[in-house]
Amino acid sequence: MPERLAEMLLDLWTPLIILWITLPPCIYMAPMNQSQVLMSGSPLELNSLSEEQRILSRSKRGWVWNQMFVLEEFSGPEPILVGRLHTDLDPGSKKIKYILSGDGAGTIFQINDITGDIHAIKRLDREEKAEYTLTAQAVDWETNKPLEPPSEFIIKVQDINDNAPEFLNGPYHATVPEMSILGTSVTNVTATDADDPVYGNSAKLVYSILEGQPYFSIEPETAIIKTALPNMDREAKEEYLVVIQAKDMGGHSGGLSGTTTLTVTLSDVNDNPPKFAQSLYHFSVPEDVILGTAIGRVKANDQDIGENAQSSYDIIDGDGTALFEITSDAQAQDGIIRLRKPLDFETKKSYTLKLEAANVHTDPRFSSRGPFKDTATVKIVVEDADEPPVFSSPTYLLEVHENAALNSVIGQVTARDPDITASPIRFSIDRHTDLERQFNINADDGKLTLATPLDRELSVWHNITIIATEIRNHSQISRVPVAIKVLDVNDNAPEFASEYEAFLCENGKPGQVIQTVSAMDKDEPKNGHYFLYSLLPEMVNNPNFTIKKNEDNSLSILAKHNGFNRQKQEVYLLPIIISDSGNPPLSSTSTLTIRVCGCSNDGVVQSCNVEAYVLPIGLSMGALIAILACIILLLVIVVLFVTLRRHKNEPLIIKDDEDVRENIIRYDDEGGGEEDTEAFDIATLQNPDGINGFLPPLCP
Ligand SMILES: *[C@@H]1O[C@H](CO)[C@@H](O)[C@H](O)[C@H]1NC(C)=O
Ligand SMILES: *[C@@H]1O[C@H](CO)[C@@H](O)[C@H](O)[C@H]1NC(C)=O
Repeated sequence: MPERLAEMLLDLWTPLIILWITLPPCIYMAPMNQSQVLMSGSPLELNSLSEEQRILSRSKRGWVWNQMFVLEEFSGPEPILVGRLHTDLDPGSKKIKYILSGDGAGTIFQINDITGDIHAIKRLDREEKAEYTLTAQAVDWETNKPLEPPSEFIIKVQDINDNAPEFLNGPYHATVPEMSILGTSVTNVTATDADDPVYGNSAKLVYSILEGQPYFSIEPETAIIKTALPNMDREAKEEYLVVIQAKDMGGHSGGLSGTTTLTVTLSDVNDNPPKFAQSLYHFSVPEDVILGTAIGRVKANDQDIGENAQSSYDIIDGDGTALFEITSDAQAQDGIIRLRKPLDFETKKSYTLKLEAANVHTDPRFSSRGPFKDTATVKIVVEDADEPPVFSSPTYLLEVHENAALNSVIGQVTARDPDITASPIRFSIDRHTDLERQFNINADDGKLTLATPLDRELSVWHNITIIATEIRNHSQISRVPVAIKVLDVNDNAPEFASEYEAFLCENGKPGQVIQTVSAMDKDEPKNGHYFLYSLLPEMVNNPNFTIKKNEDNSLSILAKHNGFNRQKQEVYLLPIIISDSGNPPLSSTSTLTIRVCGCSNDGVVQSCNVEAYVLPIGLSMGALIAILACIILLLVIVVLFVTLRRHKNEPLIIKDDEDVRENIIRYDDEGGGEEDTEAFDIATLQNPDGINGFLPPLCP
């Protein structure tokens, strides 16, 4: 029992302290000798001492000379004596009066102006004001003249334990993870005590737990709260109320105390695995359900909360792993089974899946408890549904020759009702896809026939939609695209690729190529036709022209002889037979018009028949330039002609025109006149249209 003994001793000691605190005023009240007067701490008294005494007294009791003490909260019947002022001045010769001024003078502290006794006339509170600064002075009773300079002193209010500790920030809340080890720090709290912290134990606090054991403990000095039990389980109890006491006087009896509450919440850790609510689930689903549709939900419960309760779901086994999938709904923390591939009641009527739910966020601390996952079985029953007809193919490609006879069968589509009831099917053409009613369909057997003639050269593709409808349930409809390709038949004869116009030079040589022509054919292939060219049978031995096939499938027309003369015949017509290589081949006769023209020596056509000389109303730029060139040429000729004439008849020209003469001298004066053909071909001038190839074309 050493604690009891200490407590008893302390109980005994406490009144001693109080006695000691209250002692100084008591001493003042007792009759005093010289030394006691000094202890009263009067500054006036001190001032009146000799220098020697002052040094002596200060060194002896320096702490008391200018301060007094008074206990707070004292409430006796009489005002409490705080201290006494005294001066050594001879009271016989002069009557002395004591005057007090400063903090609380007259209101809190009263002085007996004759005796110098200072009384506190009000209850004092150290926590409100711990010290008062006052000034005392001794004056002459009659004249009020100061006998000494004023002296300042302090009255200190002495603490008693009149304030209990207080938790200013309470009530408190704290969180600690569940499953924490023993001694894990939770939080700390602080109480304050208004009493004097440096004087006595009135503000010395000790903390203890009144409620909340054995779960939590508190360190008495630091007020740190710790867990006192290991592995507290949030899933068992989440919240704890802890009552904390702070007691002053070092926690001993007689001290004052204050309490506060602390609410401790255990935060979650992942210490629980997921668990399926059922070990076996049953779902049923119609076979025609749309892909992606949710078929059912499963849920694995987890006692943890938040992300610690999050599970991911998986299909780990079963005969439906390819057809179904499971997704995790993080919000509802459940798993949704969805259809991934089409079901067919007629093929398989039920499936079994094995599911697994596993925690997403696991805590390695609890891995020793085994895997944080669970499994369950799902049975899915497929229900029969009335399904629309199914075509034998998702698309059809049909081909038909463009010359196919009307009502001939192009092809056939088939469809069946997949249901057990197997309703008969009727077929029709979606007329929006066959606006021209090109085709018909046999409603019963799906045979597609031609309603109007086809022309590949107009349209190669006829893409239509065929509808199948169940007779027993007209709402069960399926549609299928049918692409009909029109195949080519050689129904177009070849012809000239363009309108050719051929020109034949009068001065041409035998065997010269007059024109090269090529042919085209609208039928397939677009390029790469092989054409045969021939002359009409009665023209095979044409004396004037012959033909020659070129390697590039074109044809050259050649003149057989020279000496063509447009005066004799301006235009020749040469019919040419072109035939394709189709089966059977088609041919046509195109006639080439050949005009006989005058040409330059190098074979450039210059003028054709007489009709062509008539100027067209709208002249081309080239023609205008040609005409202009002719006019200029004519002018030049005329000038030359005149010059030559002048040269011949020189005497007739005005002789004093020196400039003209100089100009003339430049010419060969000894020239041969009309016989000088080297200089000018007079014949040309005389007969401009006379010689081929000399004059530009189109000159009149
Ligand atoms: C029709 O269908 C065929 C085959 O699918 C396609 O090649 C063609 O471009 C289509 N024609 C039209 C005009 O849609
Ligand atoms: C050949 O040309 C001559 C005149 O140049 C003409 O009389 C004759 O009819 C032509 N023959 C044919 C087959 O065109």
